[in-house]
Amino acid sequence: MRLRDCHNFHDFRRMAKQRLPGPIFNYIDGAADDEVTHRRNSLSFESCDLLPNVLRGVTEVDLSVTVMGQKLSMPVYCSPTALQRLFHHEGERAVAAAAGKSGTMFGVSSLGTVSLEEARRISSGPQVYQFYFHKDRGLNRAMMQRAKEAGVEVMMLTVDSITGGNRERDKRTGFSIPFALNLAGILQFALKPAWALNYLTHESFKLPQLDKHVDMGSGTMSISRYFTEMLDPSMSWDDVSDMVELWDGQFCLKGIMSPDDARRAVDCGCTGIVLSNHGGRQLDGSRTAFDQLAEIVDAVGDVIDVLMDGGVQRGTHVLKALSLGAKAVGIGRYYLFPLAAAGQPGVERALNLLRAEIERDMKLMGAKSVRDLNRSNLRFR
Ligand code: FNR
Ligand code: LAC
Repeated sequence: MRLRDCHNFHDFRRMAKQRLPGPIFNYIDGAADDEVTHRRNSLSFESCDLLPNVLRGVTEVDLSVTVMGQKLSMPVYCSPTALQRLFHHEGERAVAAAAGKSGTMFGVSSLGTVSLEEARRISSGPQVYQFYFHKDRGLNRAMMQRAKEAGVEVMMLTVDSITGGNRERDKRTGFSIPFALNLAGILQFALKPAWALNYLTHESFKLPQLDKHVDMGSGTMSISRYFTEMLDPSMSWDDVSDMVELWDGQFCLKGIMSPDDARRAVDCGCTGIVLSNHGGRQLDGSRTAFDQLAEIVDAVGDVIDVLMDGGVQRGTHVLKALSLGAKAVGIGRYYLFPLAAAGQPGVERALNLLRAEIERDMKLMGAKSVRDLNRSNLRFR
């Protein structure tokens, strides 16, 4: 399968599956427990239909939006995800460069495999730094200071991961960092020698956001131990207020789902919230961000930027979220499979396809700009 044969999410996923060793593909593709929430994320967009307006003389469409003070050329950004150099040796470098070319924002994860400073140099687009809250408050302060000095525009604190989700596919393959593969997992790597050769001939695995503080490279600290031993499950709203004050800039919480929490985020001084269930990877059975969007927009949408992610695979999904009041929409697997399939050209192609879809769909909806989309454009079944 070649890149030019990829026309949508499903094609990229298929190509990624051909290239990646099974345990790595399943880490990306998988989710928690029975993966119900993961499946519902995309399905939830089908609970309503778009209602187009015609004869509005739409020749040009303006896709630009301003989110948390950042001007984006389209209402889609690359949500932060971990371990990208495992998926393709270019990893975060490819995503940062492609997002910049596309004029949009991208996130670098605390568990990123390229340093946030290098990503900042590569990309011309706004950069988010995804933060996990550590027990060691000194470490939290040092990491925020580092992100500030690097020129990161938006701080994003993930609040849905005070413990790891139950990823049964990873248990079956033995996927973990460092790798602890079982025999079946090792055989799956043996089936993809091209991936293995590529991986082994590029710089060794590192987690540069953490490696000054956490000795992961030598294998003494695994990611699951990092979660259980270093992250702070007692993280509270007071901690958020302290972080917001210290950061003194654009600050959002990722993983907010209830109106009460959304209001508390406003009270703490956050400038944005991301409705998210972490791609279904944390609490299975939780509601989808799209289903929860209207309620949250009604509660806080006039005082804070409301974003959402989860299950976005089509331009029409983006239009539906914007019609309900989201300011922008995050994508995860939508750019990760293209990254795994083809590196930077893959991510560029995926972003270009999504932009073209949104542009075409806006024309078909009779909308000249994102501001023209509202709830009158939607009907729930
Ligand atoms: C993620 N996500 C994530 N979120 C986060 O805050 N920190 C992280 O390190 C990661 N890592 C990560 C790895 C992989 C492989 C995936 C698939 C996801 C969650 C991500 O930012 C986003 O919320 C979801 O991916 C959105 O769902 P979709 O677009 O993948 O359906
Ligand atoms: C994940 C973590 C790293 O979803 O956020 O795999």
